[in-house]
Amino acid sequence: MRTATIEDVHEILVVGAGAMGSQIAMVCALAGYRSTATDLAQDALDRADAELRRRVGRTVEKGRLSRADADSAFDRLRLTTDLDAAAARADFVIEAAVEKLDVKREVFARLDAATPEHTILATNSSTIVSSQLAGATARPDRVANMHFFNPALVMRCVEVVGGPDTSRATVETTVELTRRLGKDPVVLHKEIPGFVANRILNAVRDEALFLLEQGVSSVEDIDLACRTALGHPMGPFELMDLTGIDIGYLAKLARHADSGDPRDVPSPIVAALVERGELGRKSGKGFYRYDDQGRKRPRTDPADLGTDPS
Ligand SMILES: NC(=O)c1ccc[n+]([C@@H]2O[C@H](COP(=O)([O-])OP(=O)(O)OC[C@H]3O[C@@H](n4cnc5c(N)ncnc54)[C@H](O)[C@@H]3O)[C@@H](O)[C@H]2O)c1
Repeated sequence: MRTATIEDVHEILVVGAGAMGSQIAMVCALAGYRSTATDLAQDALDRADAELRRRVGRTVEKGRLSRADADSAFDRLRLTTDLDAAAARADFVIEAAVEKLDVKREVFARLDAATPEHTILATNSSTIVSSQLAGATARPDRVANMHFFNPALVMRCVEVVGGPDTSRATVETTVELTRRLGKDPVVLHKEIPGFVANRILNAVRDEALFLLEQGVSSVEDIDLACRTALGHPMGPFELMDLTGIDIGYLAKLARHADSGDPRDVPSPIVAALVERGELGRKSGKGFYRYDDQGRKRPRTDPADLGTDPS
């Protein structure tokens, strides 16, 4: 059974042209690959096209990319609803469809039937490890996680994770492709939920919530410490407000249902905010409050956050 080497990779297929898939397909085209993004319906592809032209256009305006390079990248990028035809040409696939195991297993079975034998099937999933998908194919050695970060056009880290059946050749090609896309591969030697970067981010967030719950310091000062002492671009509370407090809450609930580990129970402060619909920037109030222009202000009453420092 032959596995694609980096020299075999000319055509890349990205399945799912949402927030992640559209930008991943563009990253591939910008790096010189022929790249195809597929989605279920034409309107998703139209939205992806408009959004990519807006983002890449801005990069050109800022002088970080020439108009000619942008135009030739768009010439290499195809958007189509015809998954099977695109799969038949693909040497490497990056699946970025919705985060549902049954949908991804169905996509992997279909890709297995439609792609050439050497093609590597990678998933961009944040939470589903590739060994949960490999069994839907007859090529478990050519299945891996290739986890980009949002926004994929900008973020350099890509986590590459092989499952128990993933071959060394598959990991090598995925790592080398990551480099050729201008990204920095972070290799995991075994599967673990959340991979590396998000686990560390979660640990920082949990500790920040612990310090707040204990009345050790304020939201503003904990964020300040992370920015000024640790060099983080944003503090954990600012970040939770940006991504949506409910997103982290639901992820923790799901993890707790799976692990039963008491450390996975959501913080009572977070639970209270979610219950009150104070979900961060999108609702105008979270760990901070936001005015009509989106300017951040501290919340004045610490009791508002369910903490009682006394
Ligand atoms: N959003 C993030 O911050 C982020 C970061 C890293 C990884 N991820 C992962 O990327 C994947 C996609 O996330 P997203 O945020 O881009 O989601 P999204 O909802 O923006 O996009 C998903 C797209 O997949 C399409 N789709 C659904 N079923 C499909 C199918 N059978 N065939 C083809 N297309 C299909 C949908 O129509 C939609 O356009 C998920 O696995 C997620 O875990 C997301």
